[in-house]
Amino acid sequence: MGLPYKTGGRVSSPADASGRAGAPGLRVAITGGTSGLGLALVCEFRARGAEVAFVARDGERVAQLARDVVGTHGIAGDIAKKEAIHPITLQVVGRLGGLDVLVNNASSLGPTPLALLADTECEALELALATNLLGPFRLTKALLGALAASARQGRGAVVVNVTSDAAITAYKGWGAYGASKAALLHLSRIWNDELADEGVRVLSIDPGDMDTPLHALAVPDTDPATLKRPTTAARELADAIMTALPACERDAG
Ligand SMILES: NC(=O)c1ccc[n+]([C@@H]2O[C@H](COP(=O)([O-])OP(=O)(O)OC[C@H]3O[C@@H](n4cnc5c(N)ncnc54)[C@H](OP(=O)(O)O)[C@@H]3O)[C@@H](O)[C@H]2O)c1
Repeated sequence: MGLPYKTGGRVSSPADASGRAGAPGLRVAITGGTSGLGLALVCEFRARGAEVAFVARDGERVAQLARDVVGTHGIAGDIAKKEAIHPITLQVVGRLGGLDVLVNNASSLGPTPLALLADTECEALELALATNLLGPFRLTKALLGALAASARQGRGAVVVNVTSDAAITAYKGWGAYGASKAALLHLSRIWNDELADEGVRVLSIDPGDMDTPLHALAVPDTDPATLKRPTTAARELADAIMTALPACERDAG
Protein backbone atom coordinates (compact mmCIF):
# COMPACT_ATOMS: atom_id res chain seq x y z
CA MET A 1 0.00 0.00 0.00
CA GLY A 2 1.46 3.41 -0.94
CA LEU A 3 1.53 5.53 2.16
CA PRO A 4 1.60 9.32 2.25
CA TYR A 5 4.32 9.44 4.92
CA LYS A 6 7.21 7.31 5.96
CA THR A 7 6.07 5.47 9.05
CA GLY A 8 7.64 2.99 11.37
CA GLY A 9 5.96 3.43 14.68
CA ARG A 10 8.04 6.53 15.42
CA VAL A 11 6.40 8.71 18.00
CA SER A 12 7.18 12.34 17.37
CA SER A 13 8.28 14.76 20.02
CA PRO A 14 5.76 17.50 21.01
CA ALA A 15 7.02 19.81 18.23
CA ASP A 16 8.86 18.00 15.48
CA ALA A 17 11.28 19.34 12.89
CA SER A 18 8.50 19.88 10.33
CA GLY A 19 6.73 22.29 12.67
CA ARG A 20 3.80 19.96 13.36
CA ALA A 21 2.22 20.29 16.79
CA GLY A 22 2.94 16.92 18.39
CA ALA A 23 0.12 14.88 19.87
CA PRO A 24 1.75 12.20 22.04
CA GLY A 25 -0.88 10.16 23.86
CA LEU A 26 -3.82 11.76 22.04
CA ARG A 27 -6.45 9.08 21.34
CA VAL A 28 -7.94 9.53 17.87
CA ALA A 29 -10.55 7.51 15.94
CA ILE A 30 -10.97 8.09 12.20
CA THR A 31 -13.68 6.57 10.00
CA GLY A 32 -12.78 5.85 6.38
CA GLY A 33 -9.12 5.50 7.28
CA THR A 34 -7.90 3.40 4.36
CA SER A 35 -8.14 5.89 1.47
CA GLY A 36 -7.84 9.55 0.56
CA LEU A 37 -8.16 12.02 3.42
CA GLY A 38 -8.77 9.34 6.05
CA LEU A 39 -5.57 7.49 5.16
CA ALA A 40 -3.63 10.75 5.24
CA LEU A 41 -5.14 11.53 8.66
CA VAL A 42 -4.15 8.13 10.07
CA CYS A 43 -0.54 8.76 8.98
CA GLU A 44 -0.58 12.42 10.06
CA PHE A 45 -1.80 11.71 13.59
CA ARG A 46 0.48 8.71 13.98
CA ALA A 47 3.44 10.86 12.89
CA ARG A 48 2.45 13.33 15.62
CA GLY A 49 2.58 10.55 18.22
CA ALA A 50 -1.16 9.97 18.63
CA GLU A 51 -2.77 6.62 19.35
CA VAL A 52 -4.91 5.98 16.28
CA ALA A 53 -7.84 3.67 15.56
CA PHE A 54 -9.41 3.67 12.13
CA VAL A 55 -12.49 2.11 10.54
CA ALA A 56 -13.32 0.99 7.00
CA ARG A 57 -15.41 -1.77 5.41
CA ASP A 58 -12.75 -3.69 3.47
CA GLY A 59 -11.21 -5.92 6.15
CA GLU A 60 -8.15 -6.88 4.10
CA ARG A 61 -7.21 -3.24 3.48
CA VAL A 62 -7.82 -2.46 7.14
CA ALA A 63 -5.52 -5.28 8.27
CA GLN A 64 -2.83 -4.31 5.72
CA LEU A 65 -2.82 -0.66 6.79
CA ALA A 66 -2.66 -1.60 10.48
CA ARG A 67 0.47 -3.64 9.63
CA ASP A 68 1.97 -0.86 7.51
CA VAL A 69 1.44 1.96 10.01
CA VAL A 70 2.85 0.44 13.15
CA GLY A 71 0.93 1.17 16.32
CA THR A 72 -2.44 1.85 14.67
CA HIS A 73 -5.57 -0.19 15.37
CA GLY A 74 -7.63 -1.24 12.36
CA ILE A 75 -11.34 -1.93 12.80
CA ALA A 76 -13.38 -3.48 9.98
CA GLY A 77 -16.92 -2.16 10.00
CA ASP A 78 -19.61 -0.35 8.03
CA ILE A 79 -20.67 2.87 9.73
CA ALA A 80 -23.81 3.00 7.56
CA LYS A 81 -25.13 -0.10 9.34
CA LYS A 82 -26.88 0.43 12.67
CA GLU A 83 -25.84 -2.97 14.01
CA ALA A 84 -22.13 -2.22 13.34
CA ILE A 85 -21.97 0.88 15.55
CA HIS A 86 -21.70 -0.77 18.97
CA PRO A 87 -19.04 -3.30 17.89
CA ILE A 88 -17.03 -0.41 16.38
CA THR A 89 -17.51 1.68 19.54
CA LEU A 90 -16.37 -1.14 21.82
CA GLN A 91 -13.27 -1.73 19.73
CA VAL A 92 -12.38 1.98 19.58
CA VAL A 93 -12.63 2.48 23.34
CA GLY A 94 -11.15 -0.93 24.15
CA ARG A 95 -8.09 -0.48 21.96
CA LEU A 96 -7.42 3.19 22.74
CA GLY A 97 -8.47 3.06 26.41
CA GLY A 98 -10.75 6.08 25.92
CA LEU A 99 -11.21 8.69 23.21
CA ASP A 100 -10.21 12.33 22.77
CA VAL A 101 -10.91 12.91 19.05
CA LEU A 102 -13.43 11.37 16.65
CA VAL A 103 -13.19 12.20 12.94
CA ASN A 104 -16.33 11.23 11.02
CA ASN A 105 -14.70 11.13 7.60
CA ALA A 106 -16.15 8.08 5.76
CA SER A 107 -18.54 9.13 3.05
CA SER A 108 -20.80 7.99 0.23
CA LEU A 109 -21.52 9.96 -2.95
CA GLY A 110 -24.95 8.36 -3.27
CA PRO A 111 -25.58 7.46 -6.92
CA THR A 112 -22.49 6.95 -9.08
CA PRO A 113 -22.15 8.26 -11.67
CA LEU A 114 -23.69 11.33 -10.04
CA ALA A 115 -27.34 11.78 -11.02
CA LEU A 116 -30.02 14.44 -11.08
CA LEU A 117 -32.46 14.03 -8.19
CA ALA A 118 -35.23 12.93 -10.55
CA ASP A 119 -32.97 10.08 -11.68
CA THR A 120 -31.74 9.16 -8.19
CA GLU A 121 -32.99 5.87 -6.75
CA CYS A 122 -34.40 6.17 -3.23
CA GLU A 123 -31.87 3.52 -2.17
CA ALA A 124 -28.98 5.72 -3.33
CA LEU A 125 -30.31 8.65 -1.28
CA GLU A 126 -30.76 6.29 1.68
CA LEU A 127 -27.16 5.14 1.36
CA ALA A 128 -25.85 8.72 1.31
CA LEU A 129 -27.91 9.60 4.39
CA ALA A 130 -26.97 6.38 6.21
CA THR A 131 -23.25 6.89 5.59
CA ASN A 132 -22.91 10.67 5.79
CA LEU A 133 -25.52 11.56 8.42
CA LEU A 134 -26.89 8.62 10.42
CA GLY A 135 -23.50 6.88 10.75
CA PRO A 136 -21.75 9.96 12.21
CA PHE A 137 -24.80 10.62 14.43
CA ARG A 138 -24.91 7.08 15.81
CA LEU A 139 -21.16 6.75 16.24
CA THR A 140 -20.83 10.12 17.96
CA LYS A 141 -23.77 9.31 20.25
CA ALA A 142 -22.29 5.93 21.17
CA LEU A 143 -18.89 7.51 21.91
CA LEU A 144 -20.18 10.55 23.80
CA GLY A 145 -19.57 8.98 27.21
CA ALA A 146 -15.91 8.38 26.41
CA LEU A 147 -15.52 11.86 24.91
CA ALA A 148 -17.18 13.59 27.86
CA ALA A 149 -14.98 11.62 30.26
CA SER A 150 -11.94 12.84 28.37
CA ALA A 151 -13.17 16.44 28.60
CA ARG A 152 -13.74 16.05 32.37
CA GLN A 153 -10.17 14.81 32.76
CA GLY A 154 -8.92 18.03 31.14
CA ARG A 155 -7.70 16.23 28.01
CA GLY A 156 -10.30 17.92 25.80
CA ALA A 157 -12.70 16.26 23.39
CA VAL A 158 -13.30 17.08 19.74
CA VAL A 159 -15.59 15.58 17.11
CA VAL A 160 -14.88 16.56 13.50
CA ASN A 161 -17.55 15.97 10.90
CA VAL A 162 -15.98 16.20 7.46
CA THR A 163 -18.32 18.21 5.26
CA SER A 164 -18.08 19.73 1.80
CA ASP A 165 -18.85 22.89 -0.13
CA ALA A 166 -21.76 20.82 -1.48
CA ALA A 167 -23.30 21.28 1.98
CA ILE A 168 -23.59 25.01 1.24
CA THR A 169 -23.93 25.27 -2.54
CA ALA A 170 -26.74 23.48 -4.38
CA TYR A 171 -24.76 21.86 -7.20
CA LYS A 172 -26.83 20.11 -9.88
CA GLY A 173 -26.18 16.38 -9.80
CA TRP A 174 -24.94 16.38 -6.20
CA GLY A 175 -28.41 16.17 -4.60
CA ALA A 176 -28.04 13.05 -2.43
CA TYR A 177 -24.51 13.89 -1.28
CA GLY A 178 -25.20 17.63 -0.86
CA ALA A 179 -28.41 17.08 1.15
CA SER A 180 -26.64 14.61 3.45
CA LYS A 181 -23.68 16.94 3.99
CA ALA A 182 -25.97 19.96 4.58
CA ALA A 183 -27.77 17.95 7.25
CA LEU A 184 -24.43 16.89 8.76
CA LEU A 185 -23.29 20.50 8.89
CA HIS A 186 -26.48 21.59 10.68
CA LEU A 187 -26.28 18.62 13.06
CA SER A 188 -22.70 19.61 13.91
CA ARG A 189 -23.66 23.19 14.76
CA ILE A 190 -26.55 22.17 17.00
CA TRP A 191 -24.53 19.45 18.71
CA ASN A 192 -21.64 21.84 19.30
CA ASP A 193 -23.99 24.18 21.19
CA GLU A 194 -25.67 21.36 23.09
CA LEU A 195 -22.39 19.79 24.21
CA ALA A 196 -20.61 22.99 25.18
CA ASP A 197 -21.33 22.44 28.88
CA GLU A 198 -19.79 18.94 28.64
CA GLY A 199 -16.62 20.41 27.14
CA VAL A 200 -17.05 18.48 23.87
CA ARG A 201 -16.43 20.51 20.71
CA VAL A 202 -18.15 19.48 17.47
CA LEU A 203 -16.50 20.97 14.38
CA SER A 204 -17.48 20.67 10.74
CA ILE A 205 -14.61 21.05 8.31
CA ASP A 206 -14.65 21.20 4.52
CA PRO A 207 -11.26 19.88 3.37
CA GLY A 208 -11.56 21.34 -0.16
CA ASP A 209 -11.35 19.49 -3.47
CA MET A 210 -8.75 16.75 -3.10
CA ASP A 211 -7.12 14.21 -5.36
CA THR A 212 -8.81 11.08 -3.98
CA PRO A 213 -10.73 8.06 -5.34
CA LEU A 214 -14.02 9.72 -4.26
CA HIS A 215 -13.26 12.81 -6.32
CA ALA A 216 -12.17 10.72 -9.30
CA LEU A 217 -15.44 8.80 -9.12
CA ALA A 218 -17.50 11.99 -8.91
CA VAL A 219 -15.67 14.12 -11.47
CA PRO A 220 -13.57 11.75 -13.61
CA ASP A 221 -12.38 14.43 -16.06
CA THR A 222 -10.62 16.61 -13.47
CA ASP A 223 -6.86 17.03 -13.82
CA PRO A 224 -5.55 15.66 -10.46
CA ALA A 225 -2.78 18.28 -10.54
CA THR A 226 -5.42 20.98 -9.94
CA LEU A 227 -6.61 19.31 -6.73
CA LYS A 228 -5.35 19.56 -3.16
CA ARG A 229 -3.20 16.70 -1.88
CA PRO A 230 -4.98 14.72 0.87
CA THR A 231 -1.78 15.04 2.93
CA THR A 232 -2.13 18.85 2.85
CA ALA A 233 -5.78 18.66 3.91
CA ALA A 234 -4.90 16.17 6.66
CA ARG A 235 -2.27 18.45 8.06
CA GLU A 236 -4.67 21.43 8.05
CA LEU A 237 -7.38 19.36 9.70
CA ALA A 238 -5.00 18.01 12.36
CA ASP A 239 -3.81 21.57 13.07
CA ALA A 240 -7.45 22.70 13.51
CA ILE A 241 -8.06 19.83 15.94
CA MET A 242 -4.91 20.58 17.95
CA THR A 243 -6.00 24.24 18.16
CA ALA A 244 -9.42 23.19 19.50
CA LEU A 245 -7.89 20.99 22.22
CA PRO A 246 -6.55 22.36 25.49
CA ALA A 247 -2.78 22.32 25.87
CA CYS A 248 -2.11 19.55 28.36
CA GLU A 249 0.20 16.65 29.12
CA ARG A 250 -1.16 13.32 27.91
CA ASP A 251 0.29 9.95 28.77
CA ALA A 252 1.98 8.62 25.64
CA GLY A 253 0.99 4.95 25.33
N1 LIG B 1 -12.26 14.29 -2.23
C1 LIG B 1 -12.77 15.53 -2.23
O1 LIG B 1 -12.52 16.35 -3.14
C2 LIG B 1 -13.65 15.97 -1.10
C3 LIG B 1 -14.14 17.30 -1.11
C4 LIG B 1 -14.91 17.74 -0.03
C5 LIG B 1 -15.19 16.85 1.00
N2 LIG B 1 -14.72 15.57 0.97
C6 LIG B 1 -15.02 14.70 2.09
O2 LIG B 1 -13.80 14.21 2.61
C7 LIG B 1 -14.02 12.91 3.21
C8 LIG B 1 -13.01 11.91 2.68
O3 LIG B 1 -13.24 11.75 1.29
P1 LIG B 1 -12.18 11.03 0.34
O4 LIG B 1 -12.24 11.74 -0.94
O5 LIG B 1 -10.89 10.87 1.05
O6 LIG B 1 -12.88 9.57 0.16
P2 LIG B 1 -12.29 8.18 -0.36
O7 LIG B 1 -10.94 8.31 -0.92
O8 LIG B 1 -13.38 7.58 -1.21
O9 LIG B 1 -12.17 7.30 0.99
C9 LIG B 1 -13.32 6.90 1.67
C10 LIG B 1 -12.93 6.04 2.85
O10 LIG B 1 -14.12 5.75 3.60
C11 LIG B 1 -14.30 4.34 3.73
N3 LIG B 1 -15.75 4.12 3.78
C12 LIG B 1 -16.66 4.42 2.82
N4 LIG B 1 -17.87 4.06 3.23
C13 LIG B 1 -17.74 3.55 4.47
C14 LIG B 1 -18.64 2.99 5.41
N5 LIG B 1 -19.95 2.88 5.14
N6 LIG B 1 -18.17 2.55 6.59
C15 LIG B 1 -16.85 2.64 6.88
N7 LIG B 1 -15.94 3.15 6.03
C16 LIG B 1 -16.38 3.60 4.83
C17 LIG B 1 -13.55 3.75 2.54
O11 LIG B 1 -13.10 2.42 2.75
P3 LIG B 1 -14.05 1.14 2.42
O12 LIG B 1 -14.57 1.35 1.02
O13 LIG B 1 -13.17 -0.06 2.58
O14 LIG B 1 -15.12 1.19 3.44
C18 LIG B 1 -12.35 4.69 2.49
O15 LIG B 1 -11.41 4.31 3.49
C19 LIG B 1 -15.48 12.58 2.92
O16 LIG B 1 -16.29 12.91 4.03
C20 LIG B 1 -15.83 13.46 1.75
O17 LIG B 1 -17.21 13.74 1.66
C21 LIG B 1 -13.97 15.11 -0.05
